Amino acid sequence: MDTKKNANFHFNVVLCGFMGCGKTTVGRQLALQTGLRLIDIDSCIETAVGLSVHQIFATYGEAHFRALEKSCIKKAAAQAPVIISPGGGAILDVENIVNFKKSGKIFFLDAPIDAIIARLGTNNAAARPLVTGKNSIYELFFSRKEKYLQAADFIIGANKSGSAICDEILEVAKNKA
Ligand code: S3P
Repeated sequence: MDTKKNANFHFNVVLCGFMGCGKTTVGRQLALQTGLRLIDIDSCIETAVGLSVHQIFATYGEAHFRALEKSCIKKAAAQAPVIISPGGGAILDVENIVNFKKSGKIFFLDAPIDAIIARLGTNNAAARPLVTGKNSIYELFFSRKEKYLQAADFIIGANKSGSAICDEILEVAKNKA
């Protein structure tokens, strides 16, 4: 019996939220449960350029990374239905939000700062170039939180297990989206 639940998906599920909020874990799990394809925007960028996110930041700078991110988001949003997991900074650009909303609903995974710090560690610059210490996480988190809330179609409390988050997204998608 096919237990996948994608039959009614006619829109993209866009997972947004701060680094470490669980987008990748939830995206993978949702893809398994629904049978929809997961498009991880950081991975798309890395494949397109042949460099890691860290190398792109170090070699070309953040502005170049953001331009690549925008182009990958445009391509991903032109497909539907898929699950899209963009990096935590993608939602800061209005054009990205417009593209996401053309074909999808934005689910903000709202994790508390303490959980994020515990997940990220405070010295993680090799994996995440913008994380250069505890203060950098606090500053980014509080400068972005309002923007995540504004962009979101749905706010999902993310201080729980990946499977509980998936169940909530599927429930919301079934009833409201
Ligand atoms: C970033 C988040 C990262 C990655 C890059 C920038 C950000 O993705 O895109 O390091 O600005 O928040 P994750 O949110 O998947 O860690």
